[in-house]
Amino acid sequence: MRVKDKVAIVTGGAGAIGREISKLLAIEGAKVVVADLNVEEAKKVVDEINASGHEALAVDLDITKVDKAKQLVEVTLDNFGQIDILVNVAGGSTGPSIKTKIDFFAQSDKERGEEIVNLNLLGTLNCARAVINHMIERHTGKIVSISSTSGTIGMLKGVEYSAAKAGIIGFTRALAKEVAPYGINVNCISPGIVGTPRVLAMVAKERIEEWAKGIKLGRLAKPEEIASVVLFLVSDESSYITGQNIIVDGGLSLGPAGY
Ligand SMILES: NC(=O)c1ccc[n+]([C@@H]2O[C@H](COP(=O)([O-])OP(=O)(O)OC[C@H]3O[C@@H](n4cnc5c(N)ncnc54)[C@H](O)[C@@H]3O)[C@@H](O)[C@H]2O)c1
Repeated sequence: MRVKDKVAIVTGGAGAIGREISKLLAIEGAKVVVADLNVEEAKKVVDEINASGHEALAVDLDITKVDKAKQLVEVTLDNFGQIDILVNVAGGSTGPSIKTKIDFFAQSDKERGEEIVNLNLLGTLNCARAVINHMIERHTGKIVSISSTSGTIGMLKGVEYSAAKAGIIGFTRALAKEVAPYGINVNCISPGIVGTPRVLAMVAKERIEEWAKGIKLGRLAKPEEIASVVLFLVSDESSYITGQNIIVDGGLSLGPAGY
């Protein structure tokens, strides 16, 4: 087992990618706090983990609220006594936290920018800030955040989202420098396009096929292919990696065909 007896928090743990991360960390020996705005879905993930003989707890979380992030840490410590791992997954360019609609920048307004940055960037900072002093005191910890290739190559109709996800990469590098003396590793992962139910429902089949042609491996990612990289980054196998952005995009960002 690669994270035996560790305690892990997964924000957005009820979502498509978050649930695969939660389940994998539990199978690999961690006690997992599945934290999500949608606590009913989080409970279903916990039931599934418990049914397979592993330990988990569902917690109601809104990452945009500082008090909720603090409560998450308190509840985790009350139940499991320590926090070894924080995986920041909650985010997105649509979904329950976002009221404005996805559109070209020319059609967008300040409200769109605030919502997207507040959820994807400031929400991630809120959760990291809530756990960091505990990790510093214990001289150990792993923080992994989910950025996106939109943060490095940009996403059409995703100017605010791309800016927020690029912010996660900067946050990762800077925090890694600050907390390295305390034995804390801070990294992020940039998935390309993941074939989650939300993506598959939002995008026409022909468009998905078009996207797949631009991906060197010729297909979208599976959520499990992101989860396995998270597991690597929170396990001892990656003990000498910090401040890095691991791109998991099937070659999406490698440039044009034939070059
Ligand atoms: N799906 C993709 O193609 C893709 C690609 C790159 C990066 N990502 C990133 O991966 C992460 C997970 O994406 P997903 O595809 O699993 O999305 P998802 O919508 O399936 O899951 C997101 C989860 O976050 C929760 N959430 C939303 N707002 C929240 C808040 N304020 N507080 C707490 N929880 C909240 C939702 O309830 C949901 O369970 C996101 O950060 C997304 O930006 C996704």
